[in-house]
Amino acid sequence: MALTHDKIEKRTGLLVILTLVTVSIGGMVEIIPLYTIESTVEAVDGVRPYTPLELAGRDIYIREGCYTCHSQQVRPFRDEAERYGHYSLAAESKYDHPFQWGSKRTGPDLARVGGKYSNEWHVAHLYDPRALVPGSVMPTYGFLLERPLETASMAGRLGANATVGVPYTAEMIDVALADMVAQADPMSDAEGLIARYPGARVDNYDGDTAKLTEMDALVAYLQVLGTMVRFNDLTVEELQQ
Ligand code: HEC
Repeated sequence: MALTHDKIEKRTGLLVILTLVTVSIGGMVEIIPLYTIESTVEAVDGVRPYTPLELAGRDIYIREGCYTCHSQQVRPFRDEAERYGHYSLAAESKYDHPFQWGSKRTGPDLARVGGKYSNEWHVAHLYDPRALVPGSVMPTYGFLLERPLETASMAGRLGANATVGVPYTAEMIDVALADMVAQADPMSDAEGLIARYPGARVDNYDGDTAKLTEMDALVAYLQVLGTMVRFNDLTVEELQQ
């Protein structure tokens, strides 16, 4: 065996050919099975496109660079599952363009932060993280309370997501602005919004319904993270799919 290897190593041409053969076997083993399954992203009930308000919040999350300190991917390990909850499924980020899995955890993972705290907690924490968590190194984001949410480009932003495959309908794009306003005011008529985005939570996110701020959008986004799939309702077989 060692002797044959010696012969191969001394003939560059042969070495290149055999290397390519070996690598392509590895490639085929990985690629061919993908053609035999319908989709690499499992279908999971509950995952829906973000509402316009949540999508605007996601854009603020990206603009402010929250992903540089927070990941959004619970890995399939016991310590992670015990701290954050069920490990992330591919389907949960299928409408994320670009996805926010991240690779750095200066702060905790946020994939399942939705519903963990109240809106008031999020606002107070973003306003001054150290008021709630002494020693926190998270920057302050109180200015989001003062900044009116930019709404004019919302229909365009939904349209852009539709172009890359998020199933926003023409109707959803048409009424994006109204849906955005309705979601941030518990007194609004949100029937249409909830019909378009099942499970959407209508709330007074920033504590002031009089104006729509960037804080409303960011908190709405944080509160939906990880809440679309109701893991407690799924059977073991469904989870193992
Ligand atoms: C410099 C790094 C850094 C940046 C940037 C940052 N954070 Fe944090 N974040 C932290 C740290 C550290 C903690 C843990 C201490 C604390 O709760 O304040 C944290 C905690 C949190 C928590 C509480 C998580 C939990 O489960 O307790 C939320 C929510 C959060 N951050 C949201 C955000 C958002 C939204 C942004 C962007 C607007 C952001 N963070 C930007 C470092 C950061």
